[in-house]
Amino acid sequence: MAPTRLIIDTDPGVDDAVAIMLALASPELDVLALTTVVGNVELEKTTLNARRLLSLARRSDVLVGRGCADPIGGVSGTAAEVHGQDGLGDLSWPEPTVKESDEDAIEMIYRLAKEAPLTLVAIGPLTNLATLLQRHPDVVEHIERVVIMGGASFEGNVTPAAEFNIWVDPEAAAIVFAGDWKLDIMPLDLTHQAYLTDDDLAFLRDLNSEVGDRLAAMLEPYAKFHEEWVGNRDLIMHDAMAIYEVIDPTAIKKSGVKADVETSGIHSRGATWFSRSFHHAESPTRVGVKVHNPTFVQLLRERLATFPSKN
Ligand code: RIB
Ligand code: CA
Repeated sequence: MAPTRLIIDTDPGVDDAVAIMLALASPELDVLALTTVVGNVELEKTTLNARRLLSLARRSDVLVGRGCADPIGGVSGTAAEVHGQDGLGDLSWPEPTVKESDEDAIEMIYRLAKEAPLTLVAIGPLTNLATLLQRHPDVVEHIERVVIMGGASFEGNVTPAAEFNIWVDPEAAAIVFAGDWKLDIMPLDLTHQAYLTDDDLAFLRDLNSEVGDRLAAMLEPYAKFHEEWVGNRDLIMHDAMAIYEVIDPTAIKKSGVKADVETSGIHSRGATWFSRSFHHAESPTRVGVKVHNPTFVQLLRERLATFPSKN
């Protein structure tokens, strides 16, 4: 079976970094580009981080397209307290060898979609995808499906109502949810079933690879944040669930839903509503419901172990 052509729209972000490395190491996927968006940190930093990650993985064949610097819905906030001021755990990095394309994210996605069927994986706020739909509505004819990490069936992680990727730009999410395309959503109630532990950090360090070392180092502050606020060092693999869904569409149990986003509301702005009524069983929009973490972690370990060792 030919690898799935895909573009990853991202706001790296330490869990984005794991998801991106998983995608780059998976033969089922043909990663054409990383397109960047404001989210965990500002666009300047998320774009630099995309270049850093591709340079670390020695993948200059993958394009970097800069996307939107500001949410459609106006000012929100970043998550530097979770991902570090630079977005990747505040390590020191060499100047990246991978350059940014002159083509902006929206035009890059549209061009590559028209060349051949394309899967879009969005693991940050949905500003770029909404802008793509507004600027080129016919793009839906060329998109096989969209897989996003975002939303929450029950409680958010920024406010009790809102998950971060939706909270940053609820207006963009509403546009994407209303799009005429197949949409698979991996919300917090799914992603919290997938996590790494200190044993996995030790595994990464024992790989004796640049990628393993860097991922372990940048995940340490993420583990510390969780220990401080949640009481354990579980490393929730939010974004990797969107990539895992494309690698193996049988791995995550999904349900058809009607998906809506709250864009007004003093306390509920950014909330996602997933109606799982039987009326929506065949909906083109689905939410991830269940995943087996040991199977996911085993695959992640196998794939990350394929990066070259340091000597
Ligand atoms: O709520 C989790 C999401 O917000 C992930 O995409 C993480 O990278 C942050 O962007
Ligand atoms: Ca992200």
